Amino acid sequence: MTWHKIPHSAIDSKKAIQQIKLAGKDFCLIYHEEKWHATSIKCPHAGANFTGGWCENGRLICPYHRHSFALGDGKGALGQYNAITIYRLEQKDSELYIELPESIFTKLANIFK
Ligand code: FES
Repeated sequence: MTWHKIPHSAIDSKKAIQQIKLAGKDFCLIYHEEKWHATSIKCPHAGANFTGGWCENGRLICPYHRHSFALGDGKGALGQYNAITIYRLEQKDSELYIELPESIFTKLANIFK
C-alpha cells in the first residue's frame, strides 16, 4: 500500500460523490456529513458506478438497485451479503492523502530493482 496526495485540481468541490483516478486506480471520493471517504468505484452487486448514487446516514446507496454500504467499514446492509472496499484517507493541513494498493507494474518494478 502506498500513500498518494490527491491534487486539489482533481477534486470537484461541487460534487458530493466523484470518481478520481490516481496512480492508475479509480476510486470514489465522497464528502458526507462533513467528512471525506474513499471507496471502490463499482458496486459489487451488478457493477454500477457509485458516482450516480447518494449517501444517507453514513451509508453509500447504489443508484441501480439501492444496495447500501457503510462508509465506515464497507459492509453491505443485512441480507445483501456483499461489501465494498474502503480506502484509508488522511487529511494534513489542507491536503488529502489516500492509501492505495500498489499496481502490478509497481510491484514488478520493485522486484527488478
Ligand atoms: S448494481 Fe448496485 S445495487 Fe445493483
